[in-house]
Amino acid sequence: MNKIIRARARMRSVDEITGSRRLRRMRKADWSRRLVRETRLAVEDLVWPVFVTEGEGREDPVAAMPGVFRYSVDRLVREAERAAALGIPAIATFPNVELERRDERGSAILDPDNIINRATRAIKEAVPEIGIITDVALDPFTSHGHDGILKDGIILNDETVAHIAEAAVLQAEAGADVIAPSDMMDGRVGAIRDALDSAGFQHVAIMSYATKFASAFYGPYREAIGTGGLLKGDKKTYYIDPANTDEALRETDQDLAEGADMVMVKPGLPYLDIIRRIKDTFAVPTFAYQVSGEYAMIRAAARNGWIDGESAMIESLTAFKRAGCDGVLTYFALEAAELLRKS
Ligand code: PBG
Repeated sequence: MNKIIRARARMRSVDEITGSRRLRRMRKADWSRRLVRETRLAVEDLVWPVFVTEGEGREDPVAAMPGVFRYSVDRLVREAERAAALGIPAIATFPNVELERRDERGSAILDPDNIINRATRAIKEAVPEIGIITDVALDPFTSHGHDGILKDGIILNDETVAHIAEAAVLQAEAGADVIAPSDMMDGRVGAIRDALDSAGFQHVAIMSYATKFASAFYGPYREAIGTGGLLKGDKKTYYIDPANTDEALRETDQDLAEGADMVMVKPGLPYLDIIRRIKDTFAVPTFAYQVSGEYAMIRAAARNGWIDGESAMIESLTAFKRAGCDGVLTYFALEAAELLRKS
């Protein structure tokens, strides 16, 4: 008891402690919170990654990503219309390729009429105002699920680069606005730039997955594109070790030197420190990919009633902007856009 009385006698007032600074003053009302808000999430910050599949009239749910579907091209066009109407600037397409079209070398990526190129043409025709970002990695097209040509257990770098540079030209021909290499082979950005320029596609941009980490958070995506059961081993010989940050800067520096117009960090939330370092160091258009596992975690917890899903979605997307992102690739794009439109 005595101790408490003595403590009270010695305790300074809060004004004495803070020197009259009270940070809660500006938090007291909605209007003042809005007035001092540093970061604002807008529909313009969102890029919507979408899955495309063969057939017609199809919308196959992805089990590990509740609310996400694989659309046939006709349905995807309708979804792209919805996205454009909401003001979403761009979509990023990923294919679920039929098993019989996958092989050791991922040859079908060089088919001008493959599912990705057909989707691009259809969307460009129907919704010319939305930007189309196409991924040029081999993994949806290979029978082993790796992003490169596999020989005797080794991913061949230079052969893979030549292959995806050709694929990039076909994607640009189909109407892609941005080519996004996600394979992490050395030299791929420069090779793609050369290939695009010599084919007359100087105006087609490159968004490089500059820092793509060998992450456990890609699991649901692999189910979505059907590589989950195929992938043997891991991608540690080409994706970055999640423990490294200087290496991420070197990758970014290299991709920019080779001609990348925009860079991306992937996954997102576990790598906000990388985003901040890249933005501070290079001051270039910087994006994050909130990947499938991040999406699945928020969805699953919300479905169990463990978190408020909408708030967690907006909070996570705002965190990317706070960390320095100019935009975010997120499976929440449509939902977030609808919510932002209302507020
Ligand atoms: C591979 C690729 C990956 C993703 C998109 N393209 C990673 C992988 O499967 O290793 C992941 C996207 C996601 O998890 O949402 N080129």
